[in-house]
Formats: sequence, structure tokens, C-alpha cells
Amino acid sequence: MFSNKIQTGLTKQLNKESESSQLYLSMASWTERKGFEGICEFLYDHSNEERIHMLKLIRYISKRGGFIILDNICINKITYGSLRELFQILFEHEKKISNEINILVELCLQEKDYFTYNFLQWYVEEQVEEETLIKTILNKIELIEEDKGGLYLFDKDIKNFHKKK
Ligand code: FEO
Repeated sequence: MFSNKIQTGLTKQLNKESESSQLYLSMASWTERKGFEGICEFLYDHSNEERIHMLKLIRYISKRGGFIILDNICINKITYGSLRELFQILFEHEKKISNEINILVELCLQEKDYFTYNFLQWYVEEQVEEETLIKTILNKIELIEEDKGGLYLFDKDIKNFHKKK
């Protein structure tokens, strides 16, 4: 079993992963409505990945005798001015998640909880890959800007963008 502080930190993190999953889902739906077939698939797939991040935390908490509290998640923003705006928001979101993982890892060291510290290393590595991936996509979109031909090709090409592991 872990300390109350770790329980609180892990609970907060699992709800952040749930929020990430919902955010990607909401963005996927917007891009699908706009006709970006490749980008919407990428975002739908990523929403599933975020759900897996949440599940990993839930399973770990349960295994260690902790309890699960699921927040009500509400994504208020449902429309975007451009793909660039959407991926900028996503990049800022991923940076925020990385920061939260860092705080949680630091808490593990303070609490001398080396089991949870070890468990969280997977998330540390994952966040490096996620930030890099979203930034790469954002850079491409900034290069293309509003060039419709470029966006059309990028929408086809996005299936070739993967996390490098
Ligand atoms: Fe699970 Fe994109 O952070």
C-alpha cells in the first residue's frame, strides 16, 4: 500500500489521462467533420492510447490496495479556428501532463515510494515521445500554413507519424 499523498497524486493523474482521452476524442470528431480523414484517425487512435494510460494507473492502484475515484470530465472547447490552433492546444496539453508526471515522480522520492517511482518511469519515457510527436506534427502544420494542397497531402501522410521507441 502507498501513502495518502501518493494515492491522491495517482488519482489526479489517472483523471488527467482520462481528460486527455476525452480531449483527443473531441478533437478527432472536429477534424472528422472538417473532412481530415487521416488526422481524425490519428486522433481517434491516440484517444484510445490515453485510455490505456488511464487503465494502467487504475490497475496499478488496485493492485497496491488503493481506491479509484473517477471525476466527471467535461471538454468545453468543441471547435477550433484551424488545425494549427488544435495542435498548439494539444502540445500545451502534453507539456502540462509531462509537468504533472514530473511532480508525481518527485513526490515518490519524497515519500520514499520506490515501487511507484519505478512504475512511473514508463510514463516519463512516454511523455518524451508524446511531446516530440505532437511538436513534429505542429511544426509540419506551421510549415504548410493554409496551403490546401499541402494540408491534403499531410492528411494522407499523418499515418506515417509514430512515436519513436
Ligand atoms: Fe497520457 Fe498524452 O499523455
